[in-house]
Amino acid sequence: MKVVPKSPARRPNPAKLVLPGALGELKKPVTRTWISDLAACSEGLMDKFVIRGGNRLVGSIRISGSKNAALPAMAAAILTDEPVVLENIPDVRDIQTERNLLVSMGAEVELGYGRASHRTTISCRDLVNPEAAYEVVKTMRASTLVLGPLVARMGRARVSQPGGCAIGARPIDLHIKGLERLGATIKQEHGYIEASADRLRGGHIIFDKITVTGTEDLMMAASLAEGETVMENCAREPEVVDLAALLIKMGANIEGAGTSTMRIQGVEELHGARHRIIPDRIETGTFVIAAVLTGGDLTLTNCDPNHLGALIQKLEECGVSITASADSMRITNGHQLTAADVDTEEFPGFPTDMQAQYMTLATQAQGTSIITENIFENRFMHAQELARMGANIKVEGRRAVVRGKTSLSSAAVQCSDLRASASLVLAALVADGETIIDRVYHIDRGYERIEEKLKSVGAQIRRIGEFLPRRAAVPSVVA
Ligand code: EPU
Repeated sequence: MKVVPKSPARRPNPAKLVLPGALGELKKPVTRTWISDLAACSEGLMDKFVIRGGNRLVGSIRISGSKNAALPAMAAAILTDEPVVLENIPDVRDIQTERNLLVSMGAEVELGYGRASHRTTISCRDLVNPEAAYEVVKTMRASTLVLGPLVARMGRARVSQPGGCAIGARPIDLHIKGLERLGATIKQEHGYIEASADRLRGGHIIFDKITVTGTEDLMMAASLAEGETVMENCAREPEVVDLAALLIKMGANIEGAGTSTMRIQGVEELHGARHRIIPDRIETGTFVIAAVLTGGDLTLTNCDPNHLGALIQKLEECGVSITASADSMRITNGHQLTAADVDTEEFPGFPTDMQAQYMTLATQAQGTSIITENIFENRFMHAQELARMGANIKVEGRRAVVRGKTSLSSAAVQCSDLRASASLVLAALVADGETIIDRVYHIDRGYERIEEKLKSVGAQIRRIGEFLPRRAAVPSVVA
């Protein structure tokens, strides 16, 4: 990439920072992107999907870039005053939210056009407002990923506490404790976390619990800290490894990403870089299950089967046949599925983000499947909606007992969070009749044009829009 000439290390003068900030306090012109995003939001589009089940899915689908890898990568741009170019960014609502957040801080965010439409260039040269306001954080918890980078680069951050969410309490205490270990002073009042540090210094962090965004947040902070940071009990997800790859391209000194222990030698400054985001393993897994359920023959391209080991193994246990190459997968299934139990775990275990979709599959398998959710305490909201479509599911605390095979029948159902929505789309693809799925803004947060992709391989799915007053359309729960 063409990186702009290196300027001397720039640390914005805290005296010039706008705190507390609001979108209206921006001191610079906003980009075209931001304006169109705001316009789209204020339209208050409350879409539904109408899906007629029963079609086999046959053909090929190109997998988009990973939402959960793109979000921390965008936050990493805060760490440098040079442009960071990110390719394979998915066109989903959460990415728009993060662009808006970065712009509200003073970043310039440029979108690619045409063939480069999945490229985003972020320049955080003139950050003025190190704040993630409640209005943004309440719609997307991953906004808290800016906390570490802001303190590391600007010496100061003000980030709203995320509060509860549809799938569990999801505190961010481990991000905060970790930053304190790196020397930050943290104040929590009026629903905000205010963190400050002249310069972070390396430290030893042992995570009480494995946390994906916590590992990412602190990895970014430690990259600009003075001295060495050792982090133990780290998340090993592919998204963590992808972020480390970007940071290393930016000049960070990181060892051990993808293992439980990471060592980071802090550097004085980071520079611009160009990076391609990894494929979305959860989108891939969702389409794998769509192929299995419909007895189809699907080829998924631009994906990474190595990131889906636990799911592939589980599906093989259910009797599914999958052929994988380095960057594609072919799924064919004409057999009766056999029930198999699933326990969600951190990577490389079975992902919690595939639990809802697997539950739909379990309704079509012969026998009893016990699904245990170990990561989030309240991630079975889809069970009630699936039951309304005829599934036999009993939820007992963190366990769901699914008895199959049951025929599913169409119903009007409602999305409660991103992955729950995906499970309902999957159920509708095999249900008898026409299912109407409400609140698909949840699915738009993380799946790029899912209805177009499904339609292209034979699904009968259409989106219908309904214009409601903005207040009614804004999601009140986040995932
Ligand atoms: N936890 C704490 N304290 C913390 C952080 C986490 O107690 O400070 C707990 C959580 O409450 C949870 C567990 O630790 O019980 C794991 O949470 P984690 O921090 O790993 O989740 P996250 O980083 O907030 C990311 C993904 C989620 C995915 C989880 C688990 C992003 C942006 N989000 O969330 O993705 O479910 O890891 O793999 O990367 C989704 O895409 O639908 C989604 C929810």
